[in-house]
Amino acid sequence: MTTRVCFVCLGNICRSPTAEGVFRHLVAERGATDFVVQSAGTAAHHVGESPDRRATATAARRGITLQGAAARFDAEDFERFDWVIAMDRANARDLRRRAPTPADEAKVHLLRRWDPHNTAGEALDVPDPYYGDASGFDEVLDICERSCAALLQELEAARG
Ligand code: 4NP
Repeated sequence: MTTRVCFVCLGNICRSPTAEGVFRHLVAERGATDFVVQSAGTAAHHVGESPDRRATATAARRGITLQGAAARFDAEDFERFDWVIAMDRANARDLRRRAPTPADEAKVHLLRRWDPHNTAGEALDVPDPYYGDASGFDEVLDICERSCAALLQELEAARG
């Protein structure tokens, strides 16, 4: 059984390629199999671009490779994924609006639902680092590493 996961942010050049890279890295490290892992953006401005070089450099310092070219998440993409993991509440709202069916809408979750630092279980965002300094990219990596580890554990457990 294959579990198909897509991480989604606004531009698909900073946060979601980072989450994708971290998740792929964890899947490989654990020797987990049967995962399809992708990322996309709710907006089309950066379609075709490689991940932001600041995100790529921050990930590389942690041994994580970012890959792919930015793509927009369209309504038809819901068919291709079981889990659609949004980086912030605006992304989640846009995705739910775009979902063709209630079952598709139910595939949308916030990444920080799995953040072990989110002890109150609040709807927390992965802050957009695009207009900020380098520390924002480290924070995104920290959040992705914590949250993706817990997410992977749950997805593996869910299929027994
Ligand atoms: P991302 O970051 O959604 O994490 O890829 C952004 C990238 C580009 C823009 C905003 C956020 N932008 O406004 O162009």
